[in-house]
Amino acid sequence: MKELRDTCPWVIMICEGSKCSRLQKDLRRTFKHELKERGLKREVEMVEMDCTSRCKQGPVVCIQPANLWLGEVRDANVPQIIDEMFREEPVQ
Ligand code: FES
Repeated sequence: MKELRDTCPWVIMICEGSKCSRLQKDLRRTFKHELKERGLKREVEMVEMDCTSRCKQGPVVCIQPANLWLGEVRDANVPQIIDEMFREEPVQ
């Protein structure tokens, strides 16, 4: 096993399962656009995740290392999510 050290301090995991994707097709693009606008692209890695069986609460997003799970996320929520992420320092 080898620890990967070339990682970003923050990770946004977006569910790309069929139900979440159907409910919110542009969520990933919205996050990317908002992070670029704020100059945070190097601070945050975007990761697709498979269905985590939270489909009834979709679209689902998980913020790491805060281990914050969010449901019913819409494009309009993205600025607030990023505001709240950067109020706290990520765990190193
Ligand atoms: S499809 Fe997203 S949690 Fe199941």
